[in-house]
Amino acid sequence: MVTAIAQSNIALSKYWGKRQLEYNLPAVGSISLTLSGLSTRTRVEESAEDRILVGGAPAPGAFAQRAKRFLELLRGEAGTTQRLTVDTENTFPTGAGLASSASGFAALTVAAARVLGLDRDTKALSILARQGSGSAARSLFGGFVEWHRGHRDDGSDSFAEPIAPEQHWDIRMLVVITSEKEKSQSSTDGMNLTRDTSPFYAAWVDHSESNLARMRESILNRDLTRVGELTEASCLQMHAVMLSGTPGLLYWNPATLALIHAVRSLRQQGTECYFTIDAGPQVKILCKGEDAARLEQRLSELPGVVRILSAGPGPAARIEDDA
Ligand code: PMV
Repeated sequence: MVTAIAQSNIALSKYWGKRQLEYNLPAVGSISLTLSGLSTRTRVEESAEDRILVGGAPAPGAFAQRAKRFLELLRGEAGTTQRLTVDTENTFPTGAGLASSASGFAALTVAAARVLGLDRDTKALSILARQGSGSAARSLFGGFVEWHRGHRDDGSDSFAEPIAPEQHWDIRMLVVITSEKEKSQSSTDGMNLTRDTSPFYAAWVDHSESNLARMRESILNRDLTRVGELTEASCLQMHAVMLSGTPGLLYWNPATLALIHAVRSLRQQGTECYFTIDAGPQVKILCKGEDAARLEQRLSELPGVVRILSAGPGPAARIEDDA
């Protein structure tokens, strides 16, 4: 039996759109921050049949199917027919409307690969995790991570790799929850809708690549102003292209918008902070470590804020114990 733990990650330079579905290849590269605290712990053991559990109880159908398909892929790579029991648990509040597929598929990749005897380096594991969920590729590594778009049809050059480890920079990300409802549409469906119907899709794809070099350099320089500006720009450009499809995808609620205004006004008053938003209504706010507690207090007073989780740069996916 093997237990693996993986942290969630939030993209600073966003991924939205697939260049190929079979191997889940992105139309754009992306850069993320792996988060401390928000993690998935997954236990995998050999069994007669595949069983997918969440906290000991049978997993919801859609997730179980996706996980079983992913186990097929890993078995194919490992050259075995061994079936597995998977039991997975998030350490962050469940039902918080936070995407758990990144930490979930990263932990599953690491634990199942070990049980199946699939001895691969982390880069190769990120290629496998990518096929469970795109953003999971990034959670294989800690700290600041880049997932390459790649150009090959087989996806062998679309992997994640670290830009800087978690000790590189004392910044915080406040994850502000504004709704605990589950999201209604999968990110794959949303991405395909955007690609098929947005007149701005090509511009989004063309522009994203140029953001990456600037983001990488600003992270290495620990330049919060530049990283923050690039983060907001990437987020707003992604939401602009989401909104411009038919029907347009609108993930924000009134509290999401109130938080955008609050972040910009706090910034004008002298506290450096920057927002980013994914395919849901939660707002993630990047700030200096020393400002985090005060900002958390201020933001928690805004109407519509349900709760706030505070995270720093977190570690890579890892095996917790062998039994
Ligand atoms: O990994 P997926 O397929 O759930 O897609 C993630 C998409 C965004 O969260 C919106 C952006 C990103 O880069 O994480």
